[in-house]
Amino acid sequence: MVEQIKEILLDQKIVEAKIAELAAKISTDYYGKEILLVGILKGAVVFLSELMKHLTIPAKIDFIQAKSYGAKKISSWNIEIKKNVDTDIKGKEVLLVEDIVDTGTTISLIIKELLKRKPASLKLCTLLDKPSRRKTEVHIDYKGFEVPNRFIVGYGLDFDENFRSLPYIAAID
Ligand code: IMP
Ligand code: MG
Repeated sequence: MVEQIKEILLDQKIVEAKIAELAAKISTDYYGKEILLVGILKGAVVFLSELMKHLTIPAKIDFIQAKSYGAKKISSWNIEIKKNVDTDIKGKEVLLVEDIVDTGTTISLIIKELLKRKPASLKLCTLLDKPSRRKTEVHIDYKGFEVPNRFIVGYGLDFDENFRSLPYIAAID
């Protein structure tokens, strides 16, 4: 399995330093407020866990899941919300936490869905951004790293459900 890893793009130290930096920025921007982190399952779980540890403002968490990649390494256009948030987000400061923004299709749909529930604010924080593949324009408020157009795994990101537990970001193509 690990022999499929072609190249480590971002090692654990670099990733974790960046996440601490993002958490500091978020804590400053939302100072005096409480935020609700909404992680996008399953890929954002590792990022969200690391991020929340570094926040110095009160934070609650929830999760949402939408259908995205299958085993075929292609973007599925038939996106549906498989699990919605449990929290009543009306009037809340909501920060969406995503692993990677690729075509932008999934995240746009999720944003549209959540805006219907009238949060006080809705911002987007993504660990990775693959801008070369964008099909739908997405405004990213907090971004960890831009990555090239390669298939990325690790730090929550999978290929066919494998590699999520790797503590670094790698390419397998
Ligand atoms: P989008 O709708 O094309 O932006 O797809 C976003 C979702 O696809 C992300 O939340 C990931 O779960 C998945 N995804 C996109 N690119 C990659 C990748 O390089 N590796 C693993 N998963 C990816
Ligand atoms: Mg995802």
